[in-house]
Amino acid sequence: MAGYVVVGTQWGDEGKGKIVDVLGSKVDYVVRFQGGNNAGHTVIVEGKKHILHLLPSGVLHTQSKCIIGPGVVVDPFVFLEEIALIESGGITTDHVYISDRAHLIMPYHVALDAYQEEMKGDKKVGTTKRGIGPCYADKYQRIGLRMSDLEDIDSFKEKLAFTLKIKNDEIVKLYEGEAFDYDDLLTKFIELRDKLLPRMIDSVAEIDQALTNNKFVLFEGAQAAMLDINYGTYPYVTSSSPTSAGVCAGVGVSPKKLDTIVGVVKAYSTRVGEGPFVTELNDDKGEFLREKGFEFGATTGRPRRCGWLDLLVVKHATLINGLTDLVVTKVDVLSGLKEINICMGYEIDGVRFDYLPASVEKVVRAKPIYDVMEGWDEDITGIREFDLLPENCKKYLRKIEEVSKTRISMVSVGPEREHNIYLHDIITK
Ligand code: IMP
Repeated sequence: MAGYVVVGTQWGDEGKGKIVDVLGSKVDYVVRFQGGNNAGHTVIVEGKKHILHLLPSGVLHTQSKCIIGPGVVVDPFVFLEEIALIESGGITTDHVYISDRAHLIMPYHVALDAYQEEMKGDKKVGTTKRGIGPCYADKYQRIGLRMSDLEDIDSFKEKLAFTLKIKNDEIVKLYEGEAFDYDDLLTKFIELRDKLLPRMIDSVAEIDQALTNNKFVLFEGAQAAMLDINYGTYPYVTSSSPTSAGVCAGVGVSPKKLDTIVGVVKAYSTRVGEGPFVTELNDDKGEFLREKGFEFGATTGRPRRCGWLDLLVVKHATLINGLTDLVVTKVDVLSGLKEINICMGYEIDGVRFDYLPASVEKVVRAKPIYDVMEGWDEDITGIREFDLLPENCKKYLRKIEEVSKTRISMVSVGPEREHNIYLHDIITK
């Protein structure tokens, strides 16, 4: 078996896209298993930077088959825009497919995301307003529309009519918004069918077969452990499971077939949107990290909240994912800091916590317990061997390994593809 998983260990934006890009040239399949166009990663097409939200970061590796899996929620308009964008750079997209089980993000989901956030007022989640939560809510309420529904237009019509009645009722009565027109929606979706249906596949059997035949399959996570619907800081989370368990549920793969689970750790913490952030820095050090690390949201452009590395969070991610390897990114951003704090646990109401409590109210009251580590001045972007890193940088990385009890296999020391230090092979091929 050769099932590889790449997941985020913090609040997303750890640099998973870069790792997938590095590994992607060696794999036969790149598969997304959860989330939707709430994600954001930068790709360079014809020398120009573009941000993709729905297509996997591995999409530019045209030798591997790219699948948007059953657990993903798909905004078909965004899908087609991103396909057009890639093709405008002369890159073929014949290798990109969508699972027939994937749910469709409908325009009313996008509208409801905004209405619901507005109604929550200062309790808002700070979503990306892409309709992710409302789409997953319909899925679990069993009134969603799936890709496969596009095949049988009579059944699509019937399901749309039923669901739209419920959605319009909420939009008009609760939010005093404008109802969506059934005929208008239907026409738009009928127009899309010709472009979408040729890309629709039943991916379950194909991926199982690929793994059985020892093909290399990379499962690309979006978001991260702390945004997990079950194990994140609920309700300040996304509506899916961005963990290795999410791969099993979101693609239909047995956990026995996942042999390498890579957790990406940013060398400090960032968060976009609302919710508790115990190590947040609202001072010049936070500003330093934001400016030096270019910490501005790829999907919404919002400045990211920045703070010290929280090892309690990384430990939590290691546990819920069963991580086998860590990749630590953006270590270069820390160069120039005299001292670096690293959070080892929380103090809540006078009690020490070494694990993440479920109650968001408790996490809000948590005070970080820090180890203070000495920093380093050197620019490390050009370093390609672990031993050549400044001593204090090595100590910092060793501390991450020690606490998470997981080996670091790669350290990213800069934004470019080659700015990496390899310690262990993640994919041996
Ligand atoms: P949603 O996924 O749009 O519903 O947003 C829920 C929460 O997850 C918000 O705090 C978002 O900012 C956050 N979020 C969603 N996707 C990402 C991502 O790709 N990176 C970082 N944060 C994200």
